[in-house]
Amino acid sequence: MNNYTIKDALKKASLILNNQKEAAILLAYHLQKDRLYLITHEEEILQQSTEYFSLINRRKENEPIEYITQSVSFYDSEFFITKGALIPRPETELLIDKAKDILSQNTNITSIAEIGTGSGIIAVMLTRLFKDITITATDINQEALNIAKKNAQEFKVDDRIKFVHTSYLDEIYEKFDMIISNPPYIQDGFDLEKPLYFEPQNALFGGKRGDEILKEIIKISKQRECAYLLCEMGYDQKDPLERFMHKQEITDVNFYQDYSGFDRGFVAKIKE
Ligand SMILES: C[S@@+](CC[C@H](N)C(=O)[O-])C[C@H]1O[C@@H](n2cnc3c(N)ncnc32)[C@H](O)[C@@H]1O
Repeated sequence: MNNYTIKDALKKASLILNNQKEAAILLAYHLQKDRLYLITHEEEILQQSTEYFSLINRRKENEPIEYITQSVSFYDSEFFITKGALIPRPETELLIDKAKDILSQNTNITSIAEIGTGSGIIAVMLTRLFKDITITATDINQEALNIAKKNAQEFKVDDRIKFVHTSYLDEIYEKFDMIISNPPYIQDGFDLEKPLYFEPQNALFGGKRGDEILKEIIKISKQRECAYLLCEMGYDQKDPLERFMHKQEITDVNFYQDYSGFDRGFVAKIKE
């Protein structure tokens, strides 16, 4: 076995990944220390270097770093994540901000449904921010629901989130003031970048056109007469979704863009 110092291991791993920051994140994770420790202990002999370099190889093979470290930054916190659920994306923080705007202005909105909760970050964030709301969060993926429950427990909001293993809101007859969703919206068969193949494919693909699940959620929100519907969507789905909502007589809709200036979601007022 090689006797690497922390400094030498970091140097070698940085060259393998061509990325010093990721090599350091993985070394800190391996040692269960913070990154400052790597600087203050650079001459220390690295124990179990083989295990460290196997983490580096996983990353080299394109596995997302969040799955390796089982941790993802979202909004103001670190959340638990594993391969069972989609890795939350920074643009979904905008959906939280949109919900925040509505919930701060409408204190009568207390009952919320989230369709496709994945790792639970939306439901967990909203219940942390608003103490008077309750959320029913659904997913077709039981593994994702287990991850979501762990996050809800970690942030002590599990008493206000009901996780249900179902499609959409099937078999749930409660009335909701607001529905929120970041559903799968990529067109089936779209050629993904390599790291995305590590993520659950049914969290990504939304049908032949990509917007089928979004349209179903719009129909459900209309049928259930909730006051607001908030969704994330694909950058090229504004026109078809706007037309679809008009057909459903939903005309009070505001689309928003992400940090790169792409259309990314909407807030629809469905009922007074
Ligand atoms: C894009 S991920 C979003 C996960 C999480 N809400 C987030 O923003 O990171 C979509 C989620 O919807 C779930 N899903 C797909 N089809 C569904 C359906 N018909 N009903 C409920 N959930 C569904 C997937 O399993 C996946 O967890």
